[in-house]
Amino acid sequence: MCLSDFCLTFGQNIFMKKNEISISVSEFENLDELAKGDRDIFKQAQKSILTAYAPYSKFAVGAAVLLENGKVVNGSNQENMAYPSGLCAERVALLAARSNYPDQKVIALAVSTTDSDVKTSLLTPCGACRQVIHEVEEDQISGMRIICGSGKGPILVFENGDQLLPFSFSQPTLKTI
Ligand code: THU
Repeated sequence: MCLSDFCLTFGQNIFMKKNEISISVSEFENLDELAKGDRDIFKQAQKSILTAYAPYSKFAVGAAVLLENGKVVNGSNQENMAYPSGLCAERVALLAARSNYPDQKVIALAVSTTDSDVKTSLLTPCGACRQVIHEVEEDQISGMRIICGSGKGPILVFENGDQLLPFSFSQPTLKTI
């Protein structure tokens, strides 16, 4: 197929409208630069790393959720010999928060890993966790701050889950119980 045929079949045509989206993220060089609230919840995420159960990946992750009543719910990745049965730290923390404090909005979610490896010095939530973050935000009708990093390297702060997962799957008409 020549280039002009390709363009006619798959490429631009007169009906096409090209859109661009932008993502907003704040970057901090270290913990001291963070606002106190973000720093406190990020430290909680770092503390949670100690409870990770990660014998298979050897990659320990900690998370912490801050609720509107000020309570903090910690979580860490929990793996299983049947690999897909394990769960990421973010979902452990978020889902524990939702089941223990169903009436409390999530204000912030922090996630961190150990700083021993330069390659893993920045961690952002995986796709599945982003989808869960999205649905929590949709259900509580407000966004949550998402603070990611390791203690070494930069720390990123996203104002809400849309910054991490544009075009998320949602069913706004689906009523929740
Ligand atoms: N993991 C998390 O807990 N959070 C993430 O954002 C990425 C990955 C966990 C899942 C698994 O236990 C290990 O890290 C290796 O993928």
